[in-house]
Amino acid sequence: MTNPLVQTIDLKKYFETPRGLLYAVDGVNLSIERGKTLGVVGESGCGKSTLGRVILRLLDATSGAVLYDGEDILRYNGEKMLQMRKKMQIIFQDPYASLNPRMTVSEIIAEPIKVCGAFESKDALEDKVCDLMETVGLADRFVNTYPHELDGGRRQRIGIARALALDPEFIVCDEPVSALDVSIQAQILNLMMDLQEERGLTYMFVTHNLSVVKHISNEIAVMYLGQCVEKAESEELFENPLHPYTKALLAAIPIPDPDIAKRRQAIIRGEVSSPINPAPGCRFAARCPCVTSACTAANVELKEIAPGHFVACLSSVAQQ
Ligand SMILES: Nc1ncnc2c1ncn2[C@@H]1O[C@H](COP(=O)(O)OP(=O)(O)OP(=O)(O)O)[C@@H](O)[C@H]1O
Ligand SMILES: [Mg+2]
Repeated sequence: MTNPLVQTIDLKKYFETPRGLLYAVDGVNLSIERGKTLGVVGESGCGKSTLGRVILRLLDATSGAVLYDGEDILRYNGEKMLQMRKKMQIIFQDPYASLNPRMTVSEIIAEPIKVCGAFESKDALEDKVCDLMETVGLADRFVNTYPHELDGGRRQRIGIARALALDPEFIVCDEPVSALDVSIQAQILNLMMDLQEERGLTYMFVTHNLSVVKHISNEIAVMYLGQCVEKAESEELFENPLHPYTKALLAAIPIPDPDIAKRRQAIIRGEVSSPINPAPGCRFAARCPCVTSACTAANVELKEIAPGHFVACLSSVAQQ
């Protein structure tokens, strides 16, 4: 990594709950180079959405830093942050829930431009909305329709057009295709990759499904209970997963391939433990087939095992 656009340093987000402190994001260090995609994967509740929201400052961090082009945006005041907000956007999982049902397609796409006053005349705004619709593959005839009249794929295209409205540089994509049919998923992923190439966009692509991020990501970070347990280039992670949890995630992908079938032995048992006041040591220890006494004795740091391949695991399986 030379000159990342986005970097987090020991980023933490704890929620106070009646049962104690919930460690949603707990010391995450990651970096994303300009024009590249970092996939963030892990089971439900591991903190992926919270991480994305803290990076965008939609949620306040508990501690740590979020560097954007080298500057810590967590220290930005209101006015500076307002300018920064135009550069950073989010695309949500459920386009239906995230779009105002009382607004037409053109009103939804125009809204962020209006809010920022980033248009010169009504005609210019209309032209901009038409351009955006064309960019995301939405036909003109949908201009005055409402989200409920459209299918999931088209709704997600509205979500993408809206995210692009202010010409952002960085987009957090929070499970953008998880609610869509598999055939539509591929269309939306292709659209997102084309847009990235045309506009030099930088993505953080959050999903619980490793197979979805394989092609879109340059690098992948695997999260477990608020922490990053493995990080590598996408191909390397798929070919040479080291953490027992990553192996288990890969084993869960239904692919008729004998190599992958062998990894099926790694399927994990048990439930994710509680993120509230977690015990020291590796958070995966209770479910791990390779656990040793050292794993629960102290916290386990990410270590670079091969160039660019980091893993937080003490077992000999990961240290090979
Ligand atoms: N506002 C909140 N108050 C308290 N706890 C929260 C809050 N938001 C999230 N959490 C908790 O933080 C943890 C991480 O949640 P988060 O939504 O980031 O997970 P996720 O990885 O995005 O899961 P999913 O795949 O289901 O979207 C969970 O245990 C969740 O219950
Ligand atoms: Mg989420």
